[in-house]
Amino acid sequence: MSYQIGLVGAGYIMQKEHLPALMKEERANVLAVVSGSGQSAAEASARFDIPNVYKTEEEMYAAHDLDLVMIAVPNAYHAEAAVRAMENGVDVFCEKPPAITTAEAARMEEAASRTGRKLMYGFHHRFSQEADIVKAAAADGEIGDIYHIRVHALRRRGIPGWGTFTDVDKQGGGPLMDIGVHMLDLAFYLSGWYRPLEVSASTHYRLGRKPGVGLLGSWDPSSMSVEDFAAGFIRFEHGRSLVLETSFAANTKEEERLSVHLFGDKGGVEIDPFEMYTEKYGALLDITPAYLDQADPRSDYERQIEHILDVLEGKARPVSEPWQGTYVQQLIEAMYESAAEGRAVSLDG
Ligand SMILES: NC(=O)c1ccc[n+]([C@@H]2O[C@H](COP(=O)([O-])OP(=O)(O)OC[C@H]3O[C@@H](n4cnc5c(N)ncnc54)[C@H](O)[C@@H]3O)[C@@H](O)[C@H]2O)c1
Repeated sequence: MSYQIGLVGAGYIMQKEHLPALMKEERANVLAVVSGSGQSAAEASARFDIPNVYKTEEEMYAAHDLDLVMIAVPNAYHAEAAVRAMENGVDVFCEKPPAITTAEAARMEEAASRTGRKLMYGFHHRFSQEADIVKAAAADGEIGDIYHIRVHALRRRGIPGWGTFTDVDKQGGGPLMDIGVHMLDLAFYLSGWYRPLEVSASTHYRLGRKPGVGLLGSWDPSSMSVEDFAAGFIRFEHGRSLVLETSFAANTKEEERLSVHLFGDKGGVEIDPFEMYTEKYGALLDITPAYLDQADPRSDYERQIEHILDVLEGKARPVSEPWQGTYVQQLIEAMYESAAEGRAVSLDG
């Protein structure tokens, strides 16, 4: 079985991760690519032997009967591109974050249900072996009731020096929108989609607006319109809570740390580096994995592509569902609103 795939956007993530993963999949036939300027599409076409390059998505849909479109363009164009694809009868994989507003994410969700097309988001951390272990441990009752979650997505000097990541109009926000979203999604995927009652957050603009060392390329401080640090607190029903810290730049030890820590009444788990904390046999025990790379050397992106093709083939149900994108987007929007207004935002009602 071979699936006809079109690409919208052919920049960093498409060329670094998705295309190499697609090339390893016999079921994937990448037929066409569209990109904003056309330059990255031409480059991707040459590097990965993609036979057709188009200037617009309409031209691509008119020329081909696609099974899947993969979208990796600046966040502000996700909703438009995803809805257009679904209205053209094509299933969608869309990079994270779902969109830049809750209304857009809801529009994407509505289009998926109206057209009957699949809409899967690029939350690739769900495809790690560590996530599989936590899911299995939770199903076995090893963690118990999760009453608190800590989310970290901290970079020391990781303001992306390419693309539009410092432009609030194109991206919708900084680290909260870009990397915080990964760990928020992972936290809910691993614990549960609890009903949020109230959100509180602060955003900071301290380091990104001055020149400095760049560990992800160099950026232009004068065009930095997104936050460089965000902190948030979410209160859920039944007293559950979540704290978040996320940064593109912060004075902290590690270069980058993306992690989720689940606090349960039977056990706890931290995803990266992976460690489980439990009390058994009259002792406090820590459990760490050994040789995970040898168990499965594939990257999360490769596992994600395999899953998407399994979904197209009818062998799997999508791991990510459109309403989950809207849920995460709503929390992010509430955090930005809380930070801008300097008060807690109620989601209860
Ligand atoms: N899963 C991850 O961890 C991860 C990592 C990096 C990027 N991303 C996401 O992927 C998306 C793209 O990021 P990137 O780093 O590849 O950016 P990039 O700037 O390298 O590439 C963006 C691509 O979009 C094209 N483009 C711009 N405007 C367009 C438009 N209006 N219509 C069609 N194409 C357009 C550009 O020509 C380019 O090909 C973002 O949403 C980002 O959040 C996800």
